[in-house]
Amino acid sequence: MSSTTNLDYKNASLKGTITVPGDKSISHRSVMFGSIAQGKTTVSGFLLGEDCLSTIDCFRKLGVDIHVEGTNVTILSPGMDNWEEPKEVLYTGNSGTTTRLMLGILSGSNIHTVMTGDASIGKRPMRRVTDPLRLMGAKIAGRENGQFTPLAIKGTKVKAIDYTMPVASAQVKSAILLAGLRAEGTTIVREKEVSRDHTERMLQQFGAKVEVKSGVVSFEGGQLLQATHVNVPGDISSAAFFLVAGAIVPESSIVMKNVGVNPTRAGIIEVLEKMGADLLIEVDDANAAEPTASLTIQTSKLKATTIEGDIIPRLIDEIPIIALLATQAEGTTIIRDAEELKVKETDRITAVVTELQKLGANIEATEDGMIIHGSTKLHGGNLQSYGDHRIGMMSAIAALISSSPIEIDDTDCIAVSYPTFFDDLKKLMKNS
Ligand code: S3P
Repeated sequence: MSSTTNLDYKNASLKGTITVPGDKSISHRSVMFGSIAQGKTTVSGFLLGEDCLSTIDCFRKLGVDIHVEGTNVTILSPGMDNWEEPKEVLYTGNSGTTTRLMLGILSGSNIHTVMTGDASIGKRPMRRVTDPLRLMGAKIAGRENGQFTPLAIKGTKVKAIDYTMPVASAQVKSAILLAGLRAEGTTIVREKEVSRDHTERMLQQFGAKVEVKSGVVSFEGGQLLQATHVNVPGDISSAAFFLVAGAIVPESSIVMKNVGVNPTRAGIIEVLEKMGADLLIEVDDANAAEPTASLTIQTSKLKATTIEGDIIPRLIDEIPIIALLATQAEGTTIIRDAEELKVKETDRITAVVTELQKLGANIEATEDGMIIHGSTKLHGGNLQSYGDHRIGMMSAIAALISSSPIEIDDTDCIAVSYPTFFDDLKKLMKNS
């Protein structure tokens, strides 16, 4: 089902305070870890986005009792070794994190499962996960030798590996570490560029011992997780849309409270600062399991920058909205080393360049990123979201600075990560 939204935001400015919804990556992991651990895990600040609801749905099918009340979730689990063999296929919807991390978890389980997702998931590469899992002894069968869903996993006794990651991907790293939970020996994952470390942090929160040293994660198999409480901070990837809106929409001033600022996720803050944005960061508790901060952004003059190398994994999901930001900055912004964008919910290099060009942006695609010449005044147009939540939200923020209305085909997909996006946007417009 799709919905077309017509956005006519001329002369809007954004003012006020919002609390963005919970972090998607951490919400997924809270349900996964709480289902692996025997007993009662409680979660606050959970993201009620469609992707995280897919994760809940999968674990319910394994016999885990999960209650959702507002953004509080209670997980009552018999423990991973007592999961039920599901009678139905596990449906992971649009969620790459659910699909890839569950492949790791289920590989070391004692049950047989079949997993599938939506049309976008059916096109996303899974060999990056099934290959290292098979090296651990996992029994996985699937289309094109395990490259695409549907995938069948026969849980088995896996063994540890020492694996050097060919791509910077927290989903791959996490799948290996989660399979390592039930593996004999020490699982070691080596990263050339450090990807988000929520799995390592949460393993420790659940009482496991994990060693992390300059890009090498080591983790002894056979450790049991202890049920606990998880506090999910606001998602910096959702905050990113309003950080950019605050920077580019005239006369704006936005405060966002309780935003997760884990350094492996906060690349967009570094980029905004380099581009000259007026951004204030007030850290709440730097020692929390996942640090948070209040972020205040105000409109400012922006200059172009180059985004490349090891910062890319720290802002990979923010590149669509950073591209829009760059259309409003003086000079040429270059984004490179970001070929991973091609295998996200859609090919985000093609989608971003095609849609921003429709609005008059001076932007070109490259093999591994894009080049944006700014600043340009944007006009309206008919845009497509490609069923990708982050492309849909980028287009909606573009409508705040376009000289004529923007129509977006299929905005329903925004509910994947930010179901209250338009409510927050309206709230900020009302205060102006
Ligand atoms: C995620 C990791 C990233 C990110 C995705 C969520 C995670 O993917 O793009 O939205 O929760 O581990 P990759 O690790 O594949 O880059």
